Amino acid sequence: MKAIQAVQRIHDLAPGVEAFHEAVIAGLSAVPKTLSCKFLYDATGSRLFDRICTLPAYYPTRTEWGILRAHARDIAAAAGPAAGLIEFGSGAGHKIRLLLAALRDPALYIPIDISRTHLLASAQTLSAAFPQLPIVPVCADYTQSFVLPDMRNYCPGRLVGFFPGSTIGNFTPEEMNEFLRRTAQLLGEGALFIVGVDLPKAKAVLEAAYDDPQGVTAAFNLNLLRRINRELKADFDLATFRHEARWDAAAGRIEMHLTSQIEQMVSIAPHRIHFRRGETIHTENSHKYDLETFMNHAEATGYKSLASWTDTQRLFALHMLEVKR
Ligand code: AVI
Repeated sequence: MKAIQAVQRIHDLAPGVEAFHEAVIAGLSAVPKTLSCKFLYDATGSRLFDRICTLPAYYPTRTEWGILRAHARDIAAAAGPAAGLIEFGSGAGHKIRLLLAALRDPALYIPIDISRTHLLASAQTLSAAFPQLPIVPVCADYTQSFVLPDMRNYCPGRLVGFFPGSTIGNFTPEEMNEFLRRTAQLLGEGALFIVGVDLPKAKAVLEAAYDDPQGVTAAFNLNLLRRINRELKADFDLATFRHEARWDAAAGRIEMHLTSQIEQMVSIAPHRIHFRRGETIHTENSHKYDLETFMNHAEATGYKSLASWTDTQRLFALHMLEVKR
């Protein structure tokens, strides 16, 4: 096995500002107006999301943390020694510490995130805590297909994909199936995939989690307009838009919207976009899946379910899948 340095140079596969401009114009010209939630995560958005994760109303982070702590040893036993960990949407990189601490001699960690500053900062912090661990940060949009750096020489053990936080719920069910199929290919036969999935629950609990009294989720959502203003030289007046969280029971999802409080024109050079009073930009879906429904999706896209764990209140689930051989 080759030895490599602690934090490797970043693999930068992030899309540029042209792709952002194109997606924003297409999304705001569509009916209804929609923007992908991946654009919420510039440096400020990523920081705001980290704050959301600490809010009393936002139960997923602490609940998943508890499940992970209770079952990290089960995951480590299934992974075996010298495993290579690949995390999709690594963010602040807190949860991975639990797994890394439980694994026997992990050989490699590949955090993948679309926010470059966040990715590098968390890779450096993690490296201080695990100085022996080679870390290869990949800045990429994992909702699209991309090629991972070749790891075979560095990782003699099993590959373990890690996708916590119920970020999988931010895909539509069709996008989720496509993502699961793609990751099964990327990870390869026999790899493990640990996926956090939020469970359906009472509307009031969900609406409070996605529209917290401190207004952090509202700031997170509105920051998307600030980002468009800054990066695309647009002139959104943030005071004329309001954050909304809506539970769609039929679709089993919470939606985030930005609602225009007035009729107005917004300029995103060289375009001008019309908003009716009350018209919204749909900025995020957060689907909730019961255990069986998620396992059926996994089964249909190339995985076998090895285990699924929940907390005692059945708020959240952690699934351990294996790519079918
Ligand atoms: C990243 N993702 C799983 C979060 C969620 O719960 O859907 C994003 C979020 N949106 C508002 N609050 C948190």
